[in-house]
Amino acid sequence: MRWRPDRLSRSLQDYNFFSEEVLECPFDFYRLAREEAPVYLLPGSNIYLVTRHADIRAMLKDTETFSSNFAHLLSGAGETEEVRALYEGTVEPADTLLTLDPPRHRVYRSLVNKVFSARRVQQMHDYIEQIVDELIDGFIDDGECEFIAAFASPLPLMVIADQLGIDRELLPRFKVWSDSLAARLGGMVSPEQAKDIALAVREFQQYILGVIDARRREPRDDMISDLATAEIDDGRSLSDAELISIVQQFLVAGNETTTSSLAGGMLSLIRNPQQMCLLREGPLHMANAVEEILRMETPSAGLWRAVTRDVEFNGTLIPAGAMVMLRYAAANRDERVFDDAERFDICRHNADDHIAFGQGTHFCPGAMLARKEMIVGLGKLLERLDNIQLAEGKNDLSHWPNMVLRGLKSLHITFDKRPRRATRTLENEAS
Ligand code: HEM
Repeated sequence: MRWRPDRLSRSLQDYNFFSEEVLECPFDFYRLAREEAPVYLLPGSNIYLVTRHADIRAMLKDTETFSSNFAHLLSGAGETEEVRALYEGTVEPADTLLTLDPPRHRVYRSLVNKVFSARRVQQMHDYIEQIVDELIDGFIDDGECEFIAAFASPLPLMVIADQLGIDRELLPRFKVWSDSLAARLGGMVSPEQAKDIALAVREFQQYILGVIDARRREPRDDMISDLATAEIDDGRSLSDAELISIVQQFLVAGNETTTSSLAGGMLSLIRNPQQMCLLREGPLHMANAVEEILRMETPSAGLWRAVTRDVEFNGTLIPAGAMVMLRYAAANRDERVFDDAERFDICRHNADDHIAFGQGTHFCPGAMLARKEMIVGLGKLLERLDNIQLAEGKNDLSHWPNMVLRGLKSLHITFDKRPRRATRTLENEAS
């Protein structure tokens, strides 16, 4: 499919949702879908794309009809025999959080609910601030950096690795594992990438199983120890397949999404210098700015649901066995909820009506932590860097091709170092 200059006269059928072009810049397509076919059967597939805020919220409430137990429908899709062979001998992750429905979902959810509660996350403030400062120290004298490698990726990576109890020396491998798991989830990988991903998944499992084994014998004060020694059902311990599944979800969900929000947030502020100025002058806007970034950037672009029975929804019949893609990124620009929805406005009164963290049963248990990392991270960056700009000639601002997650590949910026006297603690005032 080629881009045409007369975008506005295009109809829905002119767009191929699965193409890299549309995934790269999907917003005209989302707008048309919301208007013309809010429950849209993607041509040539059994996937119904849902794009309106109210419809997604209604579906999220009906977990019996729109089930999260979809993993078996996607697993191994499009993988060659050679790649499947590479997965032989690995642990098939059990369905735990993201891919289970109530009541079974509650068994696992209750294990992780309190890990990143508002109170626990508030106690992590100084610890997060210290990591943020160390990362900024690492590049501030250079006057430029690739923001994702220097900041947006290591911040959540370090935090989640520390919480899980993974050695920081392993962070580079940890990043490869996280990227590989995220790419597999996104379902748009070449055969070559699929092989690398399979090898990374093997390596990840071997390492984590070793840690689980060690923590079972000698628990420490970390999340893997808590999970490895937890009891469920009638007092049994979690199996390797359950533990791998939970750790994997925390790794991908906790990393890639927060990285993309930080990078997308930085780009939004650079593109809207008046908003960046407003934020510097009024750090109290930071918490709302973070909600607006999540609304506009929505790294969790879409999540799957499996349809368990024939159901009529808004006049469209969705048959049992079909897949639904809840397009959170489209709902967050729904004009029915957000005035002038395509405008980035850090003072938007209802920015936090976004559903970037989902809603209901599967509402993101890491939401408080992600918000904290963004508030402290972006706050400190504005406090310590001035004149932040896109580095000339170095950016194509493209995103990873991924059906589920949306994130920039790289973001080169230049900046001046702010004199230390200007340190009004922006994030402290905001959080
Ligand atoms: C900006 C950052 C983040 C965004 C946008 C985000 C988004 C989401 C969304 C939309 C869901 C619900 C999925 C569904 O509807 O099926 C979810 C679930 C989840 N998130 Fe996050 N997330 C973020 C950060 C985090 C962090 C930091 C962690 C962990 C430390 C985390 C862990 C999880 C887990 C474990 C689930 C599964 C929960 C369940 O199924 O009960 N997320 N997240």
